[in-house]
Amino acid sequence: MATTTTRYSGDVLERLRSDAQAILARYPEPRSALLPLLHLVQSEDGYVSPAGIGFCADVLDLSRASVSAVATFYSQYKRHPNGTYTVGVCTNTLCAVMGGDTIFDHLADKLGIGHDETTEDGTITLERVECNAACDYAPVMMINWEFFDNQTPASAAETVDKLLAGEPVAPTRGAHSVATFKEVSRVLAGFDDGRADEGTGAGHASLVGLDLARKNGWHAPGADAEEHADAGGPETAAKAAESGTDPVGDEGSSAERKPRTPSDTSAETVAETDEKGTNA
Ligand code: FES
Repeated sequence: MATTTTRYSGDVLERLRSDAQAILARYPEPRSALLPLLHLVQSEDGYVSPAGIGFCADVLDLSRASVSAVATFYSQYKRHPNGTYTVGVCTNTLCAVMGGDTIFDHLADKLGIGHDETTEDGTITLERVECNAACDYAPVMMINWEFFDNQTPASAAETVDKLLAGEPVAPTRGAHSVATFKEVSRVLAGFDDGRADEGTGAGHASLVGLDLARKNGWHAPGADAEEHADAGGPETAAKAAESGTDPVGDEGSSAERKPRTPSDTSAETVAETDEKGTNA
């Protein structure tokens, strides 16, 4: 049986309920909103607090045990107050052999904390994290899920010193600066902070294979050769320029997507495809 939380003050509760309604409106089944709701309460309290559990249970008419079971399953949900910045050092296989373990040990010694522990001033929570799909930049450190590539113990320590001093830090790729844990949690709850297209998404190392494939005319086995013959070449670039389709976002950002197929520049083609139900 769901319970009503009394932990949040009236105005906070009212604000959270309003946000929760916006989240619930995105899903046909209310229960599907649980994950973003957990991020929402995390953006309020800095972790999934007992009050946050009660709030989610109340909004979704679930038991607190059901909500807790989900919150304890995923490592991005914190069950005790998190630092302003989660410093996650990848110690998965490739990063580990490239120095990730050494970086983690160096930071642990420097900060006097271990995995999933937080500095006394509440600034940093240190974590060992699994592969971030950034192995081409190993060893990788993430701060609130922003990438810091090709790290060394010295570079990681320098960044951590800035965080401790209250100075802004900028990731290697992605946003222009690292947001706080609460700010990022709100984005993960589905509330756009307008920064998704800042900076470069895919760096040079990630695109080397793609460039080689294009230069050599390589395609994935079974791929339609005709469909790919026009992809990404100089002619397509020229057509894109003629079409007046301006790239948006920073160079290399997730928003900078150059037209590659007719459907990228023709509304009719997209509509036809939708009608056939093949472009869901
Ligand atoms: S092993 Fe560290 S990013 Fe893949």
